[in-house]
Order: sequence, then C-alpha cells, then structure tokens
Amino acid sequence: MVSIAVVNQKGGVGKTTVVLGLTSAAAQRGIRTLVVDMDPQGNATTGLGVFEPTRSIDSVLVEERPGGLRATVEPTGWATGCEPLPMLAASSPSLAVREAQLSTDPLGAQDRLRLAMRGNDVPLVLIDCPPSLGLLTINALFAADAVLVVTEPGAWAVDGVGRMLQTVDRIRMRRPDGGPEAAGIVVNRLGRTRDGRYWNEQLIAAYPDQCLPPVRLRAAVAEAAARSVPIHAMGRRPGAEEAAGEFDVLLDRVLHCCGCHDLHDLEHTSEGDI
Ligand SMILES: Nc1ncnc2c1ncn2[C@@H]1O[C@H](COP(=O)(O)OP(=O)(O)OP(=O)(O)O)[C@@H](O)[C@H]1O
Ligand SMILES: [Mg+2]
Repeated sequence: MVSIAVVNQKGGVGKTTVVLGLTSAAAQRGIRTLVVDMDPQGNATTGLGVFEPTRSIDSVLVEERPGGLRATVEPTGWATGCEPLPMLAASSPSLAVREAQLSTDPLGAQDRLRLAMRGNDVPLVLIDCPPSLGLLTINALFAADAVLVVTEPGAWAVDGVGRMLQTVDRIRMRRPDGGPEAAGIVVNRLGRTRDGRYWNEQLIAAYPDQCLPPVRLRAAVAEAAARSVPIHAMGRRPGAEEAAGEFDVLLDRVLHCCGCHDLHDLEHTSEGDI
C-alpha cells in the first residue's frame, strides 16, 4: 500500500487534474485506488462524478477515530468501463471551517488524517490537497508515504516548489518514520511556447533529480475533468490518447520513486475491507 499527497500551495497548477489522471491510469492498470479529497473546493470529488456525497472527510477529521476513514469511503461515479472502480473519501465545503477549528486544538491538529487512515489496505491512496500550506495540507503530509509536487512552467515556479519542499523537510523532522518520501515534481500544462520551455528548463536545472516526465497542455485533459470522465475513457477526442499515455508514464515513475518497483504488487489485489 502506498499513499501519495499531491501538493502545491499555489492555486490552479493542476493538482486535482494530476490526481484524476493518475487515478484513471491506475484503474487502467487494475490498481484499486482511493482518492482522499482534502480540498474544500471539492474539485476531485466532482471530477470523479460524485455530486452529492453521503459523507465527507470532514466528519472523519472531527471524530478522531483510528481507522475512521473506512466509514466515509464511497464508490466514484466513473462507472462505465472503469475497473476496478476508484473509491473516494469526498470533500465538503465545511472542511474550510474545520481547518480553522483544528488550529485551536493543542493536540492532534496535524495528524488526524493519519489516524483516520490507520489500517487502510487500499493499494494506492491519492490525497488531493488545497492550494495552501494550512492544516489540511499539513494533515495530508503527515498521513502520506510520499509527496508529489505539481507545478506549472511559469514565473516563480522554482521558488514555489522550493517553499513546498522546505515544508516537506519540516514535516520529515517531526515524523518518527522520517516521511514523507519525495515522489518527485511534475510540470503540468506544459505548452509549446518559448516561455513554457524556459520555465520548464529552469525547474529541471533547479531539481535535476526530482523532475518527472511532464503533462502537456491539452484541451482533452480539461474536458475529461469537466465531464467527470477518466482521461482513458475519452475515446478519439484529439489529444486524449496522448494525455492518457502521459499519465501512464507518470504513474509508473511516481510508483517507482515510492519504492513500488514491481507494479504487480499493486495490480489486481483482492478486494479489501475498506
Ligand atoms: N494538462 C492540462 N491541460 C489542459 N488544462 C489543464 C491541464 N491541467 C489542468 N488544466 C486545467 O487548469 C485548471 C486548473 O487545474 P486544477 O483544478 O487541476 O488545478 P489545482 O491545482 O487543483 O487548482 P486548486 O489549487 O484550485 O485546487 C482546470 O480548469 C483544469 O481543467
Ligand atoms: Mg484542486
């Protein structure tokens, strides 16, 4: 089992898009996946086709019950042809209020998600984080085995990634297991402009060992999310196949960085009890 927090404190860089693309790629490979939507905006929740969640991750954070995540997990709405069907711990707008309340708790404000995920046996957990370094993201970083930083190839991207990695280092100093591991940095929405190429090169120069294969700017990617359809099910829509291929490669690389060298470890595992 591996859990990955998908982060950047900057908004709109493609965290949710990468979570959805990796979830689609994992389903394609037969890997059972759970998406935990820690963003009050709930974009991963709707992108996975869940519009009226029955429960949300918010109640799990309140209850502070070890293993409590199980009770909130529901199937996504990606039904057609998506096997095994990814699962979801949905977001709720009340998460925004919860973040402020958590900050008043002198004990356990940072690791409630970790507590809730105890005993989880879904092979792959992807945690979509909000665009901030607040307690919701911090909870994700305390809970996850690895962290994947998503960025755009734009001005100040190098600085933004640097700040994020500093925060990850501070978590590592506090976690008894020294986690989370670095799964890498993915440049998303890479276009064909000179500007995009320039900032991408800057990122590669700054983080030569951590940059993963990029995800290119493609209308099909945005359309898949807007239609709550996995990118692998976008058929002949121009660019869909190429985008799906990029997420396949990214999934391989991310799992490799997380120490899953043999993907058969994760593929086609039997139904767990979550
Ligand atoms: N590779 C891509 N090609 C085309 N459009 C993209 C791509 N990646 C993201 N987008 C679009 O860019 C917008 C922002 O992406 P997304 O919501 O994934 O970012 P985010 O980092 O999760 O945002 P937030 O910080 O608000 O949670 C969305 O409209 C999405 O469809
Ligand atoms: Mg998002």
